[in-house]
Parts: sequence; C-alpha cells; structure tokens
Amino acid sequence: MEPRRIASLKTAENFRDTQERLGIDLPFDETVEAGAESPLGRPYHWRGGTVGNRFAILPMEGWDGESDGKPSDLTIRRWENFGLSGAKLIWGGEAVAVRPDGRANPNQLVINDANLAGLERLRLRLDTVHRAQFGRTDDLYVGLQLTHSGRFARPYDKRKMEPQVLYRHPCLDPKFGLGSDVHLLTDDEIARLVTDFVRASRQAHDAGFAFVDIKHCHGYLGHEFLSAVDRPGRYGGSFVNRTRFLREIVEGIKSEAPGLEVGVRISIFDFLPYRAGPDGQGEPWPWPGSPYPYAFGGDPGTGLALDLAEPSAFLNLLEELGIHWVCTTAGSPYYNPHIQRPSAFPPSDGYLPPEDPLIGVARQVDATAALKARHPNLAIVGSGYTYLQDWLPHVGQRVVRDGSADFVGLGRMVLSYPDLPADVVAGRVSDRKRICRTFSDCTTAPRNGMVSGCYPLDPFYKTRPEREQLAQLKRDTPSAGQR
Ligand SMILES: Cc1cc2nc3c(=O)[nH]c(=O)nc-3n(C[C@H](O)[C@H](O)[C@H](O)COP(=O)(O)O)c2cc1C
Ligand code: SF4
Repeated sequence: MEPRRIASLKTAENFRDTQERLGIDLPFDETVEAGAESPLGRPYHWRGGTVGNRFAILPMEGWDGESDGKPSDLTIRRWENFGLSGAKLIWGGEAVAVRPDGRANPNQLVINDANLAGLERLRLRLDTVHRAQFGRTDDLYVGLQLTHSGRFARPYDKRKMEPQVLYRHPCLDPKFGLGSDVHLLTDDEIARLVTDFVRASRQAHDAGFAFVDIKHCHGYLGHEFLSAVDRPGRYGGSFVNRTRFLREIVEGIKSEAPGLEVGVRISIFDFLPYRAGPDGQGEPWPWPGSPYPYAFGGDPGTGLALDLAEPSAFLNLLEELGIHWVCTTAGSPYYNPHIQRPSAFPPSDGYLPPEDPLIGVARQVDATAALKARHPNLAIVGSGYTYLQDWLPHVGQRVVRDGSADFVGLGRMVLSYPDLPADVVAGRVSDRKRICRTFSDCTTAPRNGMVSGCYPLDPFYKTRPEREQLAQLKRDTPSAGQR
C-alpha cells in the first residue's frame, strides 16, 4: 500500500488514524508548548553543567571538505546553520576521520595537527553565530564525531571503495563486491587505530570541543566490532572482546585528555541488509533461514526484528566507563536505509520503502524509549524524527515529556529548515515550505559524487549547478528520489 503523505495529514485526528491503520502508537501531544519551561525548551542539567534546551543537531557530513580534510566554505556554512538552529546540543557536527585512509569519501574532514586550526575555526564560527542570535553560549554543548569508515572507506577516489574489514560478511561482501583480497584488519593494526582515536580525541579537546563521539553506528568500523561474533583474537567473539576497542579508546582518553567527555552514537539495532527487489521495493538479502548473528541489537533468529539485550549490556558498559552521553540510531545508510533514515523517496542507491516510513520512525522511538527506561541516568538523544515532518514537534515534545529520551535529535530537517528548533521554542508557526519532505537528494547527491545539501528546499543549494545534474540523474534513474 502506498504510504499516506504526511503533508496530507492536516489534523491530529488524521495523524492518529494513520497510526491506527499502521498498528503503531507514537507518543504524541496535540498542542506544542513554547517557552523556556516547555518540555522542548527546558534546560537539561547534569553533573557537567546545563544544556539549554532539548533539541540536538545530529552529525551530518556534506562530502564537501577540502581534499586534505580541512573544512571548506560549504562546511562552514553548514556549521553556521547548526549554530543558528537554536538547538543547544550539537552532537558531533559531522563524522571526522581520525586518519586519511578511514575517510568515507575523499572530501570527509580529517583530524590531525595540520587541520586543527580549521576545525577550531569551525567550532568558533558555530559559537559566534549562536551567541549573536541567542545571546549566550554557556548552555551550548558542542562535540565532535570521530570515525573510521572501515568496510565503507572510500578515502582517495570517489568511485573506489578501499574497505578495511574486521570479518568476512556473508551478505555485505557479495553486496558490495568484496573479493578474497579485501583487507582484514589485524589485531596489531586495530591497536594502532586505538592510538589514532586517542590522539584525535586529545586534538579535539585542544580545539575546544567539549566531548568526542566515538562513533559506533551505521556499519562503520566501531559498529562492525559489535557484530564481529566469529572474528578470532582479542577483538572478536565474546561481548568483552567486541567492546575492547571502545574500552581501550576510553582508557586512553582518560589518561591523555582528562576532562574531555566521551559520548557514543550507536546503532541500537540492526537488520539483515536489504536490496531492491524486482519491483524496486526493498527486500531482505536472501539468507538461508538459519540464525543470522551479524545484526547487533537484532533478533538472531530472523535478522528482521529487535533484541535489545546486547545494546542494553553495551549501555551498562558505558555507565561503568563513566560515559554519560548516548545518541541512538539504527542500521546503516548503505545496506538498510529504511530503518536508519525513514524516507518517502529513496536515494539513488536505495529501494522503495518496504514499509510505511512511519513504522521506521516508531521503531527507533520505541527502541530508544525501552533503553532509556532501563538506563534512566544516561543522557539519551533520539534520532530518525525527520519523516514526521509537520508532526515532529508534537511527537518530540511527548517523547521528552514522558522521559522516553532526553533530547530530540534532528538530521535532515536541519538541512532544509535550520531554525526549526528556534521557531518551536519561541512558539512561532512552523514554515511549512521549509519542512523536509524526505526527497533524499541530500543522500543521492553524494552517492553520485556531488556535495550534499538540501537541493529542493534550501535557496542556496537550489541555485547550484548540481541541482540540474540531480534532475538529470532522476530522469535517467527512475528509482532515484521518486515513487
Ligand atoms: C546528508 C547526511 C549526512 C549524514 N552524515 C552523518 C554523519 O556524518 N554521522 C552520523 O552519525 N550520521 C550521519 N547521518 C545520519 C543522521 O545523523 C541521522 O541519523 C539520520 O538522518 C536520521 O535522522 P533524521 O530522520 O532526522 O534525518 C547523515 C544523514 C544525512 C541525511
Ligand atoms: S534533500 Fe532536503 S528535503 Fe530532501 S531529504 Fe534532504 S533535507 Fe530533506
């Protein structure tokens, strides 16, 4: 059945009826409150200070850094928009590679001595525009996301993957054409990577970031450790071994960058990889019915449902390590994007949604709530809300009011409508013309070698030459960005 367009759900009753038809029950408030005492406007207090409200900007890279990993003017503009958003938690800005061979694309930012001044300028610029617009920054909390792209590294040539994997994957290897010559990282190489993460964390601290996110999501290296169930040696097999990478990094940070907070963005569940079926609709990668052990947080029986036992054990570990900040997300944009960023329109390398995208939103909201209930002392940021569109503030407010998450994380919405958080907190009517309708151009563009941005709705990107290139691509690839 064709999903009902969210823009056509004009009343709360329409929104509720649609949910009922889909068998989901998203938390929802009919009226959105404004002001500093409202659920979304209220500050968050913790042992390290105060974060001014309950909106977080999720990390989003733009494939637009300089070739040596320094920020470009486009990067600066995006970070300025993050600062102007009104959100008081900036979760990571964007994925920054700890070394050049770990980049997901040749224009990803890289943290090293030569690039540090540029990264610091990026943070300061965000800070400056935020202070100019909102009058203060003592309640603004800004971190940097650190990554190694592992299986999805594409560091030097936009068209060439140069994967570094932890184990041979029975579905992802054939899906992405990895041959027997793929580079399997050795335990010694992993130990060197730990050193890179620790050095990068120290540098982020020097550049004034309040925390680093040791990225454990979306199929990149940190996430791959969690499913390395049949890797031999120190970093695979048991839960203790699969989390050794994180534990070693945190230990190093404590000794080399004392005072720097650590956060972890984690895919709290994963599914089997998907592919486009004969009709273009997503279908699970064929798997012979036996247990599927490679979905961290997934049901090992089917690979298509949730089992939060290990993710909960992971959050226990974070608490033991003294980590307070967690950002939840799901799956991977490369192999099951519908569970990660629910969309009405698929990106060019995706597939038509195999379920109503609202079900994908509800899955992330519910899984985050279940973990928050088990780990009430952690600060938890939820993701995947953009598909809610006009109803995002209504659901976000109820989630925070019920304590089902501490922050509402915004991804794509902030590319199309950067100051939505400021509008919500101030009680201004949302500008419907800027609401992200999940056209996926911000994913289709980089998948095809272009910089990312909101081409359909952001006037700045509307006038860029890539817009016509994208239009042509969609004419040539009927499945890209259209239903
Ligand atoms: C263009 C683009 C770039 C992204 N880059 C990152 C990234 O660098 N790091 C990360 O953890 N997630 C990244 N994401 C995922 C988002 O942070 C977020 O989880 C996802 O878009 C779902 O949230 P939303 O529904 O609000 O968009 C990216 C998403 C988009 C659309
Ligand atoms: S291109 Fe713009 S409208 Fe489309 S998904 Fe990205 S942010 Fe949303």
